Amino acid sequence: MPFDEPWWKSSVIYQIYPRSFCDTDGDGIGDLDGVRRHLDHLTWLGVDGLWLSPVFPSPMADFGYDVADYCDVDPVFGDLAAMDSLIGEAHDRGLRVLLDWVPNHTSDRHPWFQAARTSRDAALRDFYMWRDPAPGGGPPNNWRAAFGGDAWTFDDATGQYYLHCFLPEQPDLQWANPEVEAAMHDTLRFWIDRGVDGFRMDVIHLIGKDPALPDDPDDLVELTHVPLNHRPETHPLLRRLRTLLDDAGDRMAVGEVYLLDTAQVAEYYGDDDELHLCFNFPPLFAPWSASAWRSQIRRTEAELGPRGAWPTWVLSNHDNRRHRTRYGTDAAARAAAVLLLTLRGTPFLYAGEELGLQDGTIAPDRVVDPGGRDGCRCPIPWDDSPTHGWATEDPWLPWPPEADVRSVDRLRQDPESILWLYRELLALRRHSRSLRAGTLELLDVGNDDVLAYRRQADGDAARLVLVHMATTDEVRVAGCAGEVECSSAVPGRRGAFDGVLAPGEAVVLRAG
Ligand code: NOJ
Repeated sequence: MPFDEPWWKSSVIYQIYPRSFCDTDGDGIGDLDGVRRHLDHLTWLGVDGLWLSPVFPSPMADFGYDVADYCDVDPVFGDLAAMDSLIGEAHDRGLRVLLDWVPNHTSDRHPWFQAARTSRDAALRDFYMWRDPAPGGGPPNNWRAAFGGDAWTFDDATGQYYLHCFLPEQPDLQWANPEVEAAMHDTLRFWIDRGVDGFRMDVIHLIGKDPALPDDPDDLVELTHVPLNHRPETHPLLRRLRTLLDDAGDRMAVGEVYLLDTAQVAEYYGDDDELHLCFNFPPLFAPWSASAWRSQIRRTEAELGPRGAWPTWVLSNHDNRRHRTRYGTDAAARAAAVLLLTLRGTPFLYAGEELGLQDGTIAPDRVVDPGGRDGCRCPIPWDDSPTHGWATEDPWLPWPPEADVRSVDRLRQDPESILWLYRELLALRRHSRSLRAGTLELLDVGNDDVLAYRRQADGDAARLVLVHMATTDEVRVAGCAGEVECSSAVPGRRGAFDGVLAPGEAVVLRAG
């Protein structure tokens, strides 16, 4: 069906954490050939594109978010030829490909940093943010790094501190230096020329910084500097990135704007001349409660609407506990699929949520991530054999709970499984202009435990979405007429809606 919306508005994007997707060479770490092997899973499911977390050469201090070369592939994942094959085969299936671009910082092993640290006069010294110690000694300001400790590390050889908002192995680039901007633009062009459709831009709100580097407020410093860095310097940089992408023809940027206030996030869309899309994390942190979600939706509509900015919705990713784990029940995970795929905006699915995967429990001797995020990165089980479709029984992280019964093969055999529910919802969305592009109006259906909204676009029937977020009793709702098109709790439920929702049930109704 031809869409008249830009592709990044009508798409559903599937996030792949490549280390954890599928290993084909037996080293226990997922690779690009493993992604290529399972592209048919994505098309069967019905998503429109994939975002690959970083696959560039990296010492892996932050599992790829410490990039040592933006224009190559780490051997653990494959090589450029493997990437070219993956992009080609994805495109053959009509899938868009987004790469994860990490502009705020490089690895300390990047040749730029290696050169910059040789002396205070080094040609590339100003690619990074070096400062003298504070008067009286110590770091230049009180900024805290994301994984703990000061955001500054002292370099003995040159007697200055360098800034790193994350690990010491991730020095921050100095985007105020036009040579940094030009060099980073070149890295985007490299991948655009190889055919990628867009980029997820890692902590993009951090690239503009207050040149005076003032202290963060004392009462907020424990938040770390990352969610506090909201600066006007970032916006001209984003406008120039947007021009680059638009000039390259229909390429898209979705920014990780890690600010905890939706009104602030909205500013990074600019006047439709900065990021195409921004992640908005407050809903990801909201509990599974109708009142919390009503206020998140109201907030998102109110803050983004006046700018014409298009929302995004994310329930899980590689940095946070999976929502199946946070919400606590299968019923909630199924109802959450209805919510995610019927909201107004572009949804992002995190690989494994379509299987209802929970976080793994990681024994202390298997913890590898400095940020403690291993649990949501457990490997995807493809079948119920001992290797679960990987080239080894022993991947880099343990298998997630219930890996046998939640493997792709097993769930494919059960049309009532959560996997089929995701597929059904993706098809419903694809074929309904109201769900893809319509307006969203919150409804009061007379029960505080039921989140209800109406989606409506010209040329398509309106859809009512009812999400019962309490799991104890069945409830009756008022004023909702329509034909049931999908139920999270009763897979075969069809026909005229009788006003009753089972405990934890979410439904999509086609309004009469
Ligand atoms: C956000 C990424 O999602 C996270 O995984 C990473 O550790 C930080 N940015 C630093 O790049």
